Amino acid sequence: MERFAKRNSIALYRRALDLFTHFRQGAGLEKIALITGGAKRLGRDICLSLAKEGFDIALHYHTSTDAAEQTRKEIKGLGRRCFIIQSNLNEPVLHSELIDAVYHHFGNLTLLINNASIFKKLDFKHTSPMDFDQNVMLHMKAPFFLSQAFSKKCQKGAIINMLDTRVDQYKTEHFVYTLSKKSLKEMTLLLAKTLAPDIRVNGICPGAILPPENQGEQYLEQLAQKTPMKHPGHVQDILSALLYLTRSNYVNGEILYVDGGERLT
Ligand SMILES: NC(=O)c1ccc[n+]([C@@H]2O[C@H](COP(=O)([O-])OP(=O)(O)OC[C@H]3O[C@@H](n4cnc5c(N)ncnc54)[C@H](OP(=O)(O)O)[C@@H]3O)[C@@H](O)[C@H]2O)c1
Repeated sequence: MERFAKRNSIALYRRALDLFTHFRQGAGLEKIALITGGAKRLGRDICLSLAKEGFDIALHYHTSTDAAEQTRKEIKGLGRRCFIIQSNLNEPVLHSELIDAVYHHFGNLTLLINNASIFKKLDFKHTSPMDFDQNVMLHMKAPFFLSQAFSKKCQKGAIINMLDTRVDQYKTEHFVYTLSKKSLKEMTLLLAKTLAPDIRVNGICPGAILPPENQGEQYLEQLAQKTPMKHPGHVQDILSALLYLTRSNYVNGEILYVDGGERLT
């Protein structure tokens, strides 16, 4: 009899916990974000900016172990929880396992930022099948299946895809990068329609913000001279766009260009 009462009260407690979690998710009170490629550069700044905004962070990275650990320390220094996950999104991984790992750790996930990327100068004629696969896996397949797994679990949340102002241009020197980011833009819009009203899906198109890792500031300055604003943008410009999309309850299917008007050239 005593054992029966104990089992009953555990069941009641679990039910209450479920209801509480359901309420918090529905009311959008929980703030837990997964950022792919979050160890350094823009990904790191996105993690820190979201941590300051009150998000607990699931930081995904591929090779930058030390940088991921350093970013984790900084996030914890801001008083937020941080869970690190390593994986190569170019391998035939089960993307749902990544989402499951975050749910297992935090019990919830409310924001997915598809940020991981490669940016290789490659024209059409020199693009190998492997280059093609890597770009498509990273810029399309991973966002597709991470979004799918996220949408199956999340009751109220948002997805932000990091695109590029090139999605509306026809520059050909990064052919397969541009092609795969153009596809990601279309996926963003299709998903905004598919996943509403529970999940909002938006995109950000940076212009000249950070030089590629093998280039210096001069690369950016030269690029920026060809844009209407004639100077590069700041990381803070991207973070402002990100926070705008994150804070909104209504913006859906929006592509924000943070490019100084580069897409118009
Ligand atoms: N920088 C700019 O000015 C600019 C301009 C236009 C668009 N964007 C877009 O904004 C986003 C952030 O830009 P960024 O320049 O900071 O990006 P990035 O440095 O080119 O890449 C971000 C991260 O992607 C991860 N990544 C690469 N290959 C991976 C793989 N196979 N599996 C898993 N992760 C992988 C890397 O993680 P590890 O370091 O851990 O290996 C890397 O740190 C990107 O989507 C980019 O396309 C940026």
